[in-house]
Amino acid sequence: MSRVFHLIAAARPNFMKIAPIYHAMKAADGYTPVIVHTGQHYDANMSDSFFVDLGLPAPDFNLEVGSGTHAQQTGAVMIAYEQIITDTPPAATIVVGDVNSTIACTLAAKKLCLPVAHLEAGLRSRDWGMPEEINRIVTDSISDILWTPSPDGDDNLRNEGVAPERITRVGNVMMDSYELMRPRIEAETPREEFGLAEKGYGIVTLHRPSNVDAKETLGPLVDALKASAARIPLLFPLHPRTRKNLDTHGLLDDFLSATGIHVSEPINYIRFMGLVREAALVITDSGGIQEETTYLDIPCITLRENTERPVTVTEGTNRLATIADLQGYVDDILAGNWQSGVRPDLWDGKSAARVVDDLKKRLG
Ligand code: UD1
Repeated sequence: MSRVFHLIAAARPNFMKIAPIYHAMKAADGYTPVIVHTGQHYDANMSDSFFVDLGLPAPDFNLEVGSGTHAQQTGAVMIAYEQIITDTPPAATIVVGDVNSTIACTLAAKKLCLPVAHLEAGLRSRDWGMPEEINRIVTDSISDILWTPSPDGDDNLRNEGVAPERITRVGNVMMDSYELMRPRIEAETPREEFGLAEKGYGIVTLHRPSNVDAKETLGPLVDALKASAARIPLLFPLHPRTRKNLDTHGLLDDFLSATGIHVSEPINYIRFMGLVREAALVITDSGGIQEETTYLDIPCITLRENTERPVTVTEGTNRLATIADLQGYVDDILAGNWQSGVRPDLWDGKSAARVVDDLKKRLG
């Protein structure tokens, strides 16, 4: 008899984490993956295009919660997901990452005494101002199985008193998505559509509230990006939150017309990774892109005070930066003055297989 496992998909960074698990479960006897999309991200270019790129079928359930305050979004997911698992309880719920839907589905499932596994467990920024840090800590504290991507994740969990038998290090599943899609990523050169030369441009992604919400931060950030774009063209696929705030603060038109700045809509997975692969540098505040640049040995400037992914700094190509650091760091990269990275242990495209093996060991 095949057992049903719910894979919770909610927001853009989740899709490349559930895809390899979905494909590995499909290939294993006795496992039926069921995709539950909470609808936290709902635009075609933030959601549907990723399902297509990653070979995922349409979700089995779509909770269609949409945007809202943290409590509205978290509460709406809990209520809608509770109904589904009351009607058809799975063998376990698998949550990924650190978004509001991750904590919401974990809470709903645990309160109905269903097992929960958290993929990408143990990461900590120690920054309680980040909603994701709260989501990570609560999810890890009540999940039954904790799949970690790196040794710092194991250490963080043990230091918080988590029993070792709940923890299995499986490596970084994002790299499985890259390896699954590598032939298609390498078959395309999307930079040509933007008139950009190989290694002759940077990619920018910024969406964290701490960077893009207040005009006092966004204004200087725009100025620093414009100054950097005078050195090397920058392609910036705009997240909806960032576009809205640039517009609200009256910064959008000036930014769009700046020399060397190329702006686009959010870009799907295969084309985006194709752009990163051939870039000279990346400027970001994303979590996953810190990891993907380390994997691809591309210099990465992370505009944050901290990172929950420290191996990208200690072993990889990532450096944390302030807005004031930005231009100097871009110059360093262009002068070839940047650390080269190594791929952290178990970032090898085989994490999904380890997840399924671990489930077999634990659940029989
Ligand atoms: C969420 C996650 C964050 C993740 C990010 C990736 C939480 C707390 N935050 O932040 O961890 O890094 O996703 O993108 O879960 N919007 C659209 N279309 C969409 C989705 C959102 O227009 O498909 C708009 C919303 O209306 C809102 C803004 O974008 O105004 C921000 O979206 P929201 O999902 O609230 O948070 P993110 O900043 O995307």
